[in-house]
Amino acid sequence: MDPWDADALERAAECLARARYAIALTGAGLSVESGIPPFRGPGGLWTKHGEPPMDGYQRFLQNPRKAWEERLNPAGPMRELWEALAAARPNPGHDALVELEELGVLKCTITQNVDNLHRAAGSGRLIEIHGNATLIRCIECVARYPRETIDFAELPPRCSRCHGILKSDTVSFGEPIPPDVLDQCFEAAELADCMLVAGTSATVYPAAQFPISIRQRGGDLVEVNPYESEITPLCRYSLRGPGGELLPRLVEQVRLQR
Ligand code: APR
Repeated sequence: MDPWDADALERAAECLARARYAIALTGAGLSVESGIPPFRGPGGLWTKHGEPPMDGYQRFLQNPRKAWEERLNPAGPMRELWEALAAARPNPGHDALVELEELGVLKCTITQNVDNLHRAAGSGRLIEIHGNATLIRCIECVARYPRETIDFAELPPRCSRCHGILKSDTVSFGEPIPPDVLDQCFEAAELADCMLVAGTSATVYPAAQFPISIRQRGGDLVEVNPYESEITPLCRYSLRGPGGELLPRLVEQVRLQR
């Protein structure tokens, strides 16, 4: 007997298949089966090492050179995270979302993950609300560059377009979400009548606000998570299991119902 309710899986698939505009919100849990630890809950980085300071962005602005020196020589939990990111490959959960997009069911994915795994898996309509660890962003003009194109001889590196200070594209605690990305998220959430919420504790805003808003407008939420999350009480279906196993089964059911 599967650890999850097969009947609920079928009904959740029907809910997705019938949606006019289904989108997804993913979090760190989706990359656990790619070897990247989550932040909260069992095995979480913050669970083990404590939450990081909430003023990372302010400290970057105060001394960007020092912040870059620490970034280029990470220690402690950040070193553990960077090493896991470098080794990670997409898992069947990422692939399932690509297939759901190819079926025309999933219109876009908003991810909180910076690990580039949705892009590597082939997701087309992808909004990386917390940025992407393989990119470097100008804090003035928001231009983004592949990390490998940046010369780190001079710290902080400078934007070749406006000479502004460059930082990792990953959004630091205390840093506003870049306006271009935030606008795309609001646009997608406004259109959505269904949201697949996979692998997130739904505790960090503004990302956690999107499923709440969709629900408040009468939309349906379908959750995939081995544990309860903040959003579970609002979900029409909350499928209790790991994304790498559940999402492919969910997509299999959606395909049968198309
Ligand atoms: N499959 C699906 N979900 C899983 C799995 C799995 N195999 N393993 C764990 N989870 C769930 C956990 O139960 C938890 O609800 O994934 C969620 C991970 O929650 P967090 O670690 O809080 O990650 P996330 O919600 O993405 O955090 C949001 O917080 O620290 C910041 O910027 C960081 O983007 C991150 C944001």
